[in-house]
Amino acid sequence: MFGRLMTRLRECSHSWSAYRRYTSVTAEDVTAFRAIVGPNGVQTDGLDAYNTDWLKTHTGHSELVLRPKSTEEVSSVMSYMNERGLKCVIQSGNTSLVAGSVPIDNEIVLLMGRMNAIESLDTASGILVTQSGSVLQTLEEYVNERGFIMPYDLGAKGSCLIGGNLATNAGGLRFIRYGSLHGSVLGVEVVLPDGQVLDLMSQMRKDNTGYDLKQLFIGSEGTLGVITKVSILCPLKLKHQTVALLSLKSYDHLLKIYDKIRRQLSEYLTSFEMMDALSLEAVVKNLEQSHPLGSHNEFYAMIELSANDKDHMESRLSQVIEELMSEQLISDGTYANDDNHNRFLKLKSYRERIAEGLLRDGYSYKYDISLPLNVFYEIVEVMRERLKDTDCLKVVGYGHIGDCNLHLNITSKAFDKRIKTTIEPFLYEYVAKHKGSISAEHGLGLMKNSYLKYSKPVEAIALMKQIKKLFDPKNTLNPNKVLPND
Ligand code: FAD
Ligand code: MLT
Ligand code: ZN
Repeated sequence: MFGRLMTRLRECSHSWSAYRRYTSVTAEDVTAFRAIVGPNGVQTDGLDAYNTDWLKTHTGHSELVLRPKSTEEVSSVMSYMNERGLKCVIQSGNTSLVAGSVPIDNEIVLLMGRMNAIESLDTASGILVTQSGSVLQTLEEYVNERGFIMPYDLGAKGSCLIGGNLATNAGGLRFIRYGSLHGSVLGVEVVLPDGQVLDLMSQMRKDNTGYDLKQLFIGSEGTLGVITKVSILCPLKLKHQTVALLSLKSYDHLLKIYDKIRRQLSEYLTSFEMMDALSLEAVVKNLEQSHPLGSHNEFYAMIELSANDKDHMESRLSQVIEELMSEQLISDGTYANDDNHNRFLKLKSYRERIAEGLLRDGYSYKYDISLPLNVFYEIVEVMRERLKDTDCLKVVGYGHIGDCNLHLNITSKAFDKRIKTTIEPFLYEYVAKHKGSISAEHGLGLMKNSYLKYSKPVEAIALMKQIKKLFDPKNTLNPNKVLPND
C-alpha cells in the first residue's frame, strides 16, 4: 500500500508549478462519475448552496457535485480525478467559518452526507465506529440513548458532520473537560488523493507503533485525504446536567469567578464560557429573544456542570454562587437543569447562537484566537478604539475562556475593506507578540492561510508544504487552502 507513497516522497523535490495544470470537467467525465456513484450521486444543477460558505463571504464556480455512498466509491472517484488532473473540495456540513469547504474556482464538490452509517458502539468501552458523513447531533442522540455522550459539542451540531469535525479538529463547548479530538479519536480510514485507501481504524486507546499518522488528518482541513470512517472514544453520560448564567461587571471579576469555580466545582465542570454585553445583545436583539436575566450587565459567564448525584452538585453550586454574591463578584444569575429540557436548551442557546445573531448585522469579520488570560479581553477594547472611526456596528468578545480561546467578532452592514485592513495584520501581530494562536479552532481555510507565519516558524511551514506534496503531489485536493501560496 505504501509503495506509491514512497515514490512520492522521492518526488517531493520536484517543482509544484509543474503540477498546476488542471483540467476542466467534460461530459465524458460526468458519464464516468455516474457509472461510479450512480445517477443519484451526481448533481450538475442548482449548486449555489455548495458554492457558498456559511458566512456568505465566498462564492465558487463548481459545476459538479458528487455524493458517494461508500469508501470504494470515494476511492474510484479520487483515482479518476487524480488521473484526469481534476480539482476537488470535500464538503461535509459546510459550516466552515474560514471558507474551507467551498470551491474557490471550479473544483468538483465531494459531498459526504450520504456516508452516514453508524457501524457500532461498544457499550463496554464507549468506542463508536461510524462513517464520516454522520451528523454530530444524530451521533449525540445515538450515543445518549446508550448511556454515552460525544466528547465534543458545537453550536453547529445540527448541520456539521463528524468527518468535517475531524478535518477541522473542532473544539467547542466540552473541550475544557474532554480535551481535543487528537486525544479522543482512536482511528480513521482515509482515501488519499490518488484513490489509495489508508486503513488506520484502530479501536485501541494505547498504540505506540511508529508515527501516529491519523493525527495528520485531524485538522488537515481536507487537504491531505478524504476521511471516510472514524472510531472515537465517547465518555459515559452523567445522569444530570445543570447550566448557570451569571452576570458580572468586569473582566477582572470574570477571571476571579473562573478561578473559584474551577477550584471548587472541578469534578462537575463540563464547560466554562464567557460573553460580553454586545455578544448577548446580538442574540437578544437580532434573533428577537427575551433577555435571559432581565437586567443588563457588562459580562456573562455560562457554566455547565454534570454529575450522577444531582442534589450534591446543585447544593455545591448554590454554595459557590452565594459566596460569589457575598463577595460582590456576580450581580445576577439564573440556572436550568435538564429535568426541564426545553428551558435547559433555551438557556444554553444564548451562548450557542451568538454567531448566528452577529451575522444578522450583515457581515461578520470573525477571529478565533488563543491568548493568555491576562490579555485575553484587552484586544477587544484595543480593537474598539482602533475601529471607532469606521462604519463597523459591533466589536464583541465571547468564547471558551476555559481554553484561552477568544472569538473576537466585528460586524458591519456589508463588507468594508477599510475595516478589514484596520483589523489585519494588526491583530495577528498582537497575537504573535503574546505567543497566542491566530486560529484556536476554526482553522485557516481560505481566509487565514496567508497569516500562518504569525503562528508557526518558517521551518514548520516548509515541512507542512512537503507533507502536502507527499500526499497530494498534483495539488488537486482543496488547493490554495490552509498553506500560504508564496
Ligand atoms: P465543512 O465545513 O463541510 O468542512 C470543513 C473543512 O473540512 C473543509 O476544509 C473541508 O474540505 C474539510 N472536510 C470536510 N469533511 C471532510 C472529510 N470527510 N475528510 C476530509 N476533509 C473534510 N468550530 C469549533 O471548533 N468549535 C465551535 O464551537 C464551533 N461552533 C460553530 C458554530 C456555528 C454556528 C458554526 C456555523 C460553526 C461553528 N464551528 C465551530 C465551525 C465549524 O462548524 C466546525 O469547524 C465544524 O467542525 C465543520 O464541520 P462541517 O461538517 O460543517 O465541515
Ligand atoms: C462558537 O464558539 O460559538 C463558535 O466557534 C462559532 C463562533 O466563533 O462564532
Ligand atoms: Zn468556538
